Amino acid sequence: MRETPGRAVVVADAGALAREAAREFERRAKEAVAARGWFAVALSGGSTPRRLYALLADPAAPFRAAIPWDRVHLFWGDERHVPPEDPRSNYRMVREELISRVPIPAGNVHRIEAELPEASEAAARYDAELARFFALGSAEFARFDLMLLGIGPEGHTASLFPGTTALQVRDKRVVENWVPKLNAFRITLTLPVFARAAAVLFLISGEDKAAILRMVFDPNGPADALPCQLIRPESGDLIWLADRAAAASLPPY
Ligand code: 6PG
Repeated sequence: MRETPGRAVVVADAGALAREAAREFERRAKEAVAARGWFAVALSGGSTPRRLYALLADPAAPFRAAIPWDRVHLFWGDERHVPPEDPRSNYRMVREELISRVPIPAGNVHRIEAELPEASEAAARYDAELARFFALGSAEFARFDLMLLGIGPEGHTASLFPGTTALQVRDKRVVENWVPKLNAFRITLTLPVFARAAAVLFLISGEDKAAILRMVFDPNGPADALPCQLIRPESGDLIWLADRAAAASLPPY
């Protein structure tokens, strides 16, 4: 029987999930800034984190005033190959819910330039920005203080989809990834970058995630069948934050 790496945290509902994720975000931001002067976070796209971003920016909640936004650096774990104004853009969603509502300096927002005609060029430019910001050598991987992720219905995470070439990459930080089921390119961080993270926080909400989360935690199932299972911080924290609806099929602890 296998153990699933990391720790599962189950909360009542989507609202509780956003609050717990916001507390993690605030705590890790303060710790990183106290230790090093800045906090680097890789944000996830999709619908689940939208509520977290809105809560972080909400003046009626405690987080906006508590987080040292001038020391927070926003990156993305992945991006669709679309311009920033496109409704599918992960950057656009974060700009609407968070960036436009908190006092974060423009220079602290490190978006993927997914408007470029070639996804490979967008990946190369984002990689250069990672190398500059983290002062990386060619074979070094960025170490984010926190990386947010979701899980798709077939177990993808970031833009690491089952059967796609990005899953095999171990010598690059960022790649373009052709996703046949979407008939589209994505730009995504690679597994070695997630492995270097100080913390990876999965945000999993809703009954439509119950089956895939069961597969992740099935003690008799394969340990590496799904892309989300390949996210393994070498020394960092791995937290599966789920609401009750998503955790409904988990085996009893
Ligand atoms: C994206 C995300 C993707 C997302 C999952 C879950 O660009 O869409 O990177 O990996 O996290 O598809 O999305 P939901 O949170 O909407 O279920």
